[in-house]
Amino acid sequence: MVDNGEFMDLFLKTTYGELQQAMAKPPADRRGWAAIYQRAIQVAEMQNLLFFRDRPETSDPRWAALTAQSRQNAADLAAAALLALRNTQTADFNAVQKKYAAVSDGCNGCHRAFAREAPTVKP
Ligand code: HEC
Repeated sequence: MVDNGEFMDLFLKTTYGELQQAMAKPPADRRGWAAIYQRAIQVAEMQNLLFFRDRPETSDPRWAALTAQSRQNAADLAAAALLALRNTQTADFNAVQKKYAAVSDGCNGCHRAFAREAPTVKP
């Protein structure tokens, strides 16, 4: 199994980067909202893999708790984007941005607990 740093690079860095791009400006059309929804789902689902890492850290109960929180933040963003997608006329980008900001908080919550050298993830 790859170490945590390589895991992050392979699975979360790129996916999160794509989410960042999708969130860079208010979506102009349904495709834009769909991109946010899809990227957020990917960030959430990728984090499921964190529960099954064969690494010593995962036996610490904080690991599962922080993974669950971080995954939930991405799932909440996906739900908000899906709501916007249902009616793009009334879609509220500010509300979605708040959910998006919580996604990096989730990443950083675990980084602070387990990897002080890990980068601070920015919205
Ligand atoms: C449950 C814990 C946990 C969560 C949640 C988490 N990370 Fe990490 N992350 C780590 C650990 C541990 C490291 C340090 C790995 C090492 O260098 O040994 C790390 C390191 C990184 C790195 C640096 C990789 C490198 O090259 O060394 C990036 C980039 C990163 N994380 C991105 C993210 C993003 C983006 C998210 C949220 C979507 C996230 N992480 C969520 C535990 C987590």
